[in-house]
Amino acid sequence: MKCGECREVDVGTTSRAGNLSRRDFIKICSAAAVYMGLPAAMGAKIAQAATARRLPVIWVSGQECTGCTESLLRTDHPDFAHLILDLISLEYSETLNAGAGEQAEAALQASVKAGGYVMVAEGSFPLKDGGIYCKVGGRTIVDIAAEVASSAAAVIGIGSCASWGGMPSATAVDMGGKSPTGAVGIAEALESKGVKTPVVNIPGCPPNGYNFLSTVLYFVTFGKLPEVDDKARPKFAYGRLIHENCERRPHFDAGRFAEQFGDDGHRQGYCLYKLGCKGPETFNNCSTLTYNDVGASAWPVGMGAPCFGCSEADVGFTAPLHSPARPIYVTPPALFTGVDGGPKGKATTGGALVGGAVIGAVVGAGIVTAKKTGKKAEEES
Ligand code: SF4
Ligand code: F3S
Repeated sequence: MKCGECREVDVGTTSRAGNLSRRDFIKICSAAAVYMGLPAAMGAKIAQAATARRLPVIWVSGQECTGCTESLLRTDHPDFAHLILDLISLEYSETLNAGAGEQAEAALQASVKAGGYVMVAEGSFPLKDGGIYCKVGGRTIVDIAAEVASSAAAVIGIGSCASWGGMPSATAVDMGGKSPTGAVGIAEALESKGVKTPVVNIPGCPPNGYNFLSTVLYFVTFGKLPEVDDKARPKFAYGRLIHENCERRPHFDAGRFAEQFGDDGHRQGYCLYKLGCKGPETFNNCSTLTYNDVGASAWPVGMGAPCFGCSEADVGFTAPLHSPARPIYVTPPALFTGVDGGPKGKATTGGALVGGAVIGAVVGAGIVTAKKTGKKAEEES
């Protein structure tokens, strides 16, 4: 066991990425445990499991833009290098493979034969015309995905395309309101081939990388997928409407709306409902987790852009962008922050802690909260 300054992960192994201390990693795992609805004490167990054995992962790409992988590359706690070098063993990924052609396909076949892996699906899968609209190495991606998934312990669909078809499944007016390629999510594609491996979806365009990382940590620790909703999304991440904890929610409740982009209301951070915000019908944790480790407001609504419902199957890429949302139910927000009492968009330490705990955000929120708590402690000392 190596410790000293605790500069490297040493819960059973040493970090090859080398940028995350053991202490930080256990903190992240403890935060992840809490945000996934588990006791904080589970953090040590999660850290132990995550570093004891690297989970083999085969990444299958269908019709996609690689945006989900790109988004994951921007995570910071832990970063992608730590993920693929220490926590998982990335056996195959068309976007990140060092090899190509026959060499890469041979590696894929060897990994499938070895078994004991999780398959990650990115992008949508075309069923129309026998799936000819997406092929790799002369085979349809649907056949490849079915073969890989058949021997997988579980399948994680990352992004809205893999979850339910996403943008490629958007209907085209000049094609009679149908998707040009018959694009569907990985669960439906596997069902069409009779493959019954369990699937969990992490929708979003792109999804928050921490929701993916938390799902991986959960699987590595418990050997099963987390509890999911009726769309196979982890409840810890997609259990609440964005609207419930939006930083602009006090304006909604007070009837203060932006009427046009760039008007006074928009500039003052008023609610974006009248500009088509789909937060009242979209389940996701964007409003509390935010993106890219750059602090509060780093998410669409925080930046002044209405949520377009990217993580909802019948909203994103389906409902017109600026049509009013159809509120599912209206509940009081879990927290009010920074509208009348403080600078817009800057959640207080207490607010972040309460909000994080209430909504069940995950690793990223944990580290953001830890950072804020640390900062506050420094200021108070
Ligand atoms: Fe926030 Fe949109 Fe709800 Fe307004 S409608 S409070 S901007 S989620
Ligand atoms: Fe998507 Fe809406 Fe979040 S557009 S990223 S679900 S704020």
